[in-house]
Amino acid sequence: MKLLTTLLLAASLAIPVFSTFAQEATPAVPPVEAKVVPAQALKPDLVKGEATFTSMCIACHAADGNSVIGANPKLAQQHPEYLVKQLQEFKEGKRANAIMLGFASMLTDADMLNVAYWLNSKVATPGFAKDKELVSMGERIYRGGITDRQIPACAGCHSPNGAGMPAQFPRLSGQHAEYAATQLTNFRDGIRQNSLQMTQIAAKMNDKEIKAVSDYIAGLR
Ligand code: HEC
Ligand code: HEC
Repeated sequence: MKLLTTLLLAASLAIPVFSTFAQEATPAVPPVEAKVVPAQALKPDLVKGEATFTSMCIACHAADGNSVIGANPKLAQQHPEYLVKQLQEFKEGKRANAIMLGFASMLTDADMLNVAYWLNSKVATPGFAKDKELVSMGERIYRGGITDRQIPACAGCHSPNGAGMPAQFPRLSGQHAEYAATQLTNFRDGIRQNSLQMTQIAAKMNDKEIKAVSDYIAGLR
């Protein structure tokens, strides 16, 4: 402590000493954080991505990322930028989900990148629409939107076959209807707050329309 006081005194008196000392003494950047490389500077490592996924994620999302449980999203073939964004936002709590908050919090930026690119390399299994009555309503909404209520066509962003658009718009084709309907409801009710675009769209949809378009999405390919 005595040495520190002396140094501080010296620093405040002598300008050249101050400039070198100030750098060492600034506690703002702890040494551990200083070593973290920004995510965009990292190259994805698919082998590590698979290892992380196999040890932590397969119980819910299945071995190849094609979950067979309606509440758990299929992740295979999803755009990596979108996956990384979701994992970061679960971790930050911007997308509220207790289960995924826990798992995303265990991942570093590099883990997220590795897992996301590995998942993108897996092929998504197709799904099926189940509700014959609703599916035509769902198709109308997906392809044309609902013009008199300014609900845009989903296809405009997520593409006609649901493949989405890398980096910007997630892939939807074949996704579980149950999961998709939960997300649309969560956007509408403010539980999922990580996309203004989707919040504004879902805000105008009723439960029946959400169910219909989600069922149609499940069968898209
Ligand atoms: C205990 C079950 C469980 C485990 C284990 C689990 N997840 Fe999830 N995951 C879920 C559920 C449920 C959701 C949907 C959350 C919601 O409704 O917002 C989800 C959502 C996601 C999403 C969002 C997908 C999308 O389309 O937006 C990603 C990405 C994801 N999980 C990746 C992972 C990764 C990577 C791991 C392992 C590190 C993992 N999950 C482990 C249950 C799980
Ligand atoms: C203006 C562009 C745009 C339009 C139009 C649009 N979306 Fe989206 N959608 C997005 C974006 C961007 C995201 C990703 C949000 C994020 O980053 O979390 C998204 C995400 C979603 C998700 C969540 C996917 C997942 O894996 O969790 C669903 C479901 C969805 N949209 C359904 C729809 C439906 C149904 C429609 C039509 C009624 C629609 N979207 C129209 C841009 C759009």
